[in-house]
Amino acid sequence: QLPNNVTIKEVGPRDGLQNEKTVIATPDKIEWINRLSRTGVRHIEITSFVNPKWIPPLADSLEVATGIARVEGVTYSALVPNMRGMEGFLKANLDEVAVFMSATETHNQKNINKSIDETFPVLKEVIDAALQNGKRVRGYVSTVFGCPYEGRTDVKQALYVSQKLLDLGIHELSLGDTIGVANPVQVQQVLEVFLREIPADRLAMHFHDTRGMALANVLASLQMGLTTFDGALGGLGGCPYAPGASGNVATDDLVHMLHGMGVATGIDEAALVASAQFMQDKIGRPLPSHTLQTVNAC
Ligand code: HMG
Ligand code: MG
Repeated sequence: QLPNNVTIKEVGPRDGLQNEKTVIATPDKIEWINRLSRTGVRHIEITSFVNPKWIPPLADSLEVATGIARVEGVTYSALVPNMRGMEGFLKANLDEVAVFMSATETHNQKNINKSIDETFPVLKEVIDAALQNGKRVRGYVSTVFGCPYEGRTDVKQALYVSQKLLDLGIHELSLGDTIGVANPVQVQQVLEVFLREIPADRLAMHFHDTRGMALANVLASLQMGLTTFDGALGGLGGCPYAPGASGNVATDDLVHMLHGMGVATGIDEAALVASAQFMQDKIGRPLPSHTLQTVNAC
């Protein structure tokens, strides 16, 4: 039994571009987000307020966040790792803060330069400040299924980090298969454990498609009652601190699959593909999504 409706959260402007070698001009990012805002997508993660020395492609976060034409009904979010990032977020006055950390110690250390236990107090400050300013907070846990440094992740460890973040006040938890190692059976096993403790409507799935498993993993999650999925248009993306990580599940492929199965997303597929083509032109090479490859071949 599949749900009637699914919520898609577009993370292309953030996850998709954070590791991109082609330099995308700030006005082009803004134009892309503005186009995305008119596709029916209701959540767009537009940038990261992180250290630009670590993530140079998103060094223009404040310009992007203050330059877009915000559309009513669309939630605009950004990654915020600490109070320094929160300053930028609040200047731009976006709608939703996204905090992030990993289930595994080594990835957390490489990605945000702290141990897992050192990270909680930093994120607590960010979450408290967000809530005081009337902003909702989404939390990511990375390496839920596997870690590039530590191998397969212990589900108890992933659940421990997740519950701590929920206790700190996040409203939604996005479970990351950062390096695309999960398969549908593992997704089912991990979700069985999570769903004993956390209701499905507080969970989102964030699948990278490194080994071509992302859509199959989405289907497994749908069958477990999950209804929120992250995607990046064209299949852009990857974490610079996870060697071998490639793009997210392509939002265009995801929406195509869902609509084909009779699951509504509220997204206009043609507008979505046009907006993927816009970014593909700026990047200057074919993007990996199946949908775009089909369109490119015509
Ligand atoms: P740090 O270097 O440990 O920070 O960075 P620090 O607190 O020791 O400060 C050192 C310097 O960084 C100082 O500058 C600070 O001002 C500056 P200096 O005095 O040397 O000139 N600094 C900042 N500058 C701008 N904005 C800030 C900021 N904070 C400190 N917010 C930090 C700690 C977390 C900031 C750093 O490690 C960092 O930026 N990491 C980048 C992490 C990242 O963006 N990773 C990719 C996103 S996560 C992901 O992709 C996974 C996800 O998609 C889910 C999944 O797929 O699993 C979400
Ligand atoms: Mg990611």
